[in-house]
Amino acid sequence: MLTLFVFGVLWATAICQGRSLPFWHQSVLVSPDLQTPGTRDLELGELNFLHTTDTHGWLGSHLNQANYDADWGDFVSFTSNFKHNRVGTSRDLILIDTGDKHDGNGLSDATATNGQLSTEIFNEQDYDLLTLGNHELYTEENTVLEYYSTATSKKFRDAYVSSNVDFVTEDGRLVPFGSKFCYFKTPNRNIRILAFSFMFNFQRANARAKVTLATTALQQEWFQKAVSQYPEGEIDVIVIFGHMPITDPEEHEINQVHSIFRKHYPRTIIQYFGAHSHVRDFAVFDELSTGIQSGRFAETVGFLSIDNIKSDTPKFSRRYIDFNKNQFSHHSGSSTLTEKGVKLSHKISRIRQELNLNDVVGYVPSSYHMYSKPLSSKHNIYNLLTSKVLPNLKSDRTDESKSRFTIINTGSIRYDLYKGNFTKDTEYIVSPFPNNWTYVEVPLSLAEGVADYLNDGPVLYTSMAPPEVRRKKHYPGSCPFIHDPHLRKGYTTSDDFGCDGDDVIHNSELVFRIPNVVQSVELKRVGPEDRVHLIFYSFIQKDVLRALNDLSKNLPTHVEYTDAHCQNYGGDSTKDLLKQYVRDQQLQSHK
Ligand SMILES: *[C@@H]1O[C@H](CO)[C@@H](O)[C@H](O)[C@H]1NC(C)=O
Ligand SMILES: *[C@@H]1O[C@H](CO)[C@@H](O)[C@H](O)[C@H]1NC(C)=O
Ligand SMILES: [Zn+2]
Ligand SMILES: [Zn+2]
Repeated sequence: MLTLFVFGVLWATAICQGRSLPFWHQSVLVSPDLQTPGTRDLELGELNFLHTTDTHGWLGSHLNQANYDADWGDFVSFTSNFKHNRVGTSRDLILIDTGDKHDGNGLSDATATNGQLSTEIFNEQDYDLLTLGNHELYTEENTVLEYYSTATSKKFRDAYVSSNVDFVTEDGRLVPFGSKFCYFKTPNRNIRILAFSFMFNFQRANARAKVTLATTALQQEWFQKAVSQYPEGEIDVIVIFGHMPITDPEEHEINQVHSIFRKHYPRTIIQYFGAHSHVRDFAVFDELSTGIQSGRFAETVGFLSIDNIKSDTPKFSRRYIDFNKNQFSHHSGSSTLTEKGVKLSHKISRIRQELNLNDVVGYVPSSYHMYSKPLSSKHNIYNLLTSKVLPNLKSDRTDESKSRFTIINTGSIRYDLYKGNFTKDTEYIVSPFPNNWTYVEVPLSLAEGVADYLNDGPVLYTSMAPPEVRRKKHYPGSCPFIHDPHLRKGYTTSDDFGCDGDDVIHNSELVFRIPNVVQSVELKRVGPEDRVHLIFYSFIQKDVLRALNDLSKNLPTHVEYTDAHCQNYGGDSTKDLLKQYVRDQQLQSHK
């Protein structure tokens, strides 16, 4: 049995213990010969981890992408089979999630309370350790739901850890969002684990939550107490999981956390599980410490093992498993689904039906990509938007026939638009945000410079920005480019162990740099001093005003642009314009 650790009265919910092995409803069929060409196997160790992160509601699989065709029920079957067939009773397995469960898929976003049903589905997985991401902290509704339905739920209150986020109760008290930390022994090998979880320096939490800077939290008394209660000689592995990228070239937040831990635990294995930047990544911190980050959107299950734990030279191994049925069968040694998994898949289908997520708006004849096609390609989604979709914007407030520039930030698009049915779900997936159009009337000569100005400046809203594009390390160029049309398209990950992390060898995809903003330009006969409409999302109003003021500061006609110059343009959101475009194309093709 696992050691029970009680953390005192102040944190009544902060009791942390492990759980016993799940019960198997049925015996599983082991098929020894599920060979998949191009598959790299997992190297199991004494201690094994499976990790998901940034699922953003993608629990119903990727219906237009065969490479990610598993749903949450399949994932539940997989972990159960994997534990039974591969881990057994001579090794241990810890299942971890690191947050961001909303915003990005109809299954989470189409319910009246965002996440109402997807949380239930997500929580069917038997996580040993879990925590929250920043997407659980934007709205009060999400935060309250997360706290009561997961962090303090009967099932997870002993598994939920957050070392630097507090929940604000109805009467205004701050209480830890789960346990501050957690100590347990693994059931099979009695490995002594001390687990912590840190949120990155997120500053936009709603009033029901408070995020403390990780390095500040590590100066607090609770941490000093934890260290003296569990000194170096009494633990085998420190697990630091949380909503924080494991490679952070700008803020180095995780590296600061690591140096604090190393002061207290110079010779202990420290294993990190990262999140938030939506990449597959693996980083070596020192000879006793590595970190894995397992992508996004239920495209990846991260696998990490540690062997020779009690020696001076532990061995780490990592894999990024493609989230599909084939790979799940292969790695678990079974293609038989568990009863629980099958039930959950049925439940997901039923909920998708109830939320009308399968309702077909139109058909997308070919895929449109965010990064794997250049902006100049007609298979690039920003090209589609600026050339075909945004010109359909109508105004019910002003003269829409006036020359205009329509600017959108590229971060407002969240996913590629895949060939196949365009459904209600697709809307949530591709462009989940409703938007308001704002406009300013300015001389053509000024309007012309705004997009370039914004693109020359720093990245707008990094949290929405793409993975590969931001970080050189992940540029596929640093691994051999695989061109083999027999292989499926997918990730070719470059990390600190090299280029062999992906469990399937993929046909590599190119990644092109995409600017901060793109624009649609519709000019009627105009001279440089004629006034045009500069239209943009109200979301980026501050940035546009800054651009206008900076660009015009040396002009004789200089005016200081303020919010008062900005007016509502009216018209449909990009999300709706895209839907209408797809529907109209469909109608035309039937004429
Ligand atoms: C696409 O939608 C049509 C109905 O419009 C349906 O018959 C077909 O099965 C759908 N395809 C997929 C892959 O869901
Ligand atoms: C859009 O703008 C209108 C008018 O300014 C405002 O009433 C509405 O709340 C805004 N909606 C969003 C989503 O910002
Ligand atoms: Zn995320
Ligand atoms: Zn995040």
